[in-house]
Amino acid sequence: MNHDRQTQGQAQGRAATRPTLVVLHGVNLDLLGERPVEHYGTITLADIERTVAATAAQLGWDCVCHQTNHEGAFVEFVHRYRHAAALIVNPGAWTHYSYAIRDALELVCSPVAEVHLSQIEEREDWRRVSVIADVASLRVLGRGVAGYVEAAKELIHLAGGGA
Ligand code: DQA
Repeated sequence: MNHDRQTQGQAQGRAATRPTLVVLHGVNLDLLGERPVEHYGTITLADIERTVAATAAQLGWDCVCHQTNHEGAFVEFVHRYRHAAALIVNPGAWTHYSYAIRDALELVCSPVAEVHLSQIEEREDWRRVSVIADVASLRVLGRGVAGYVEAAKELIHLAGGGA
């Protein structure tokens, strides 16, 4: 049925549905721009979201972004988007101990990128642990906003390429 609708839309010159890249930001990332500059620079969350959305658009994808400071809400975003075409997640400090987020990510059907602005493997011992690493298709650490762009391009490639 979907196929019929899409065919009709294309015949009328409407664009076919584009795949969606979902970007989920966790705890404290809403305050980027005020956090320690030596780890996170001066970039804001809005800057990151604009950059990732532009990368996705260049490759013919849509992009939706969410941030929350509530762990259960983050889990519910993962549930909601578990059938999306690809996900980038930066759960912030939850990365290091949230088995609930790890178990939710295990249910995602599509490729998932774990992205961190800072190089978590060169900071405090507790930050070196990522409980989500084993359910991520790829990890990009310590590359700032460029890490999100890299992850977006790689995920789109893994999920079948861009336009
Ligand atoms: C972070 C690294 C985490 O250790 C930290 O708690 C964050 C941000 C990063 O992007 O570098 O909030 O995920």
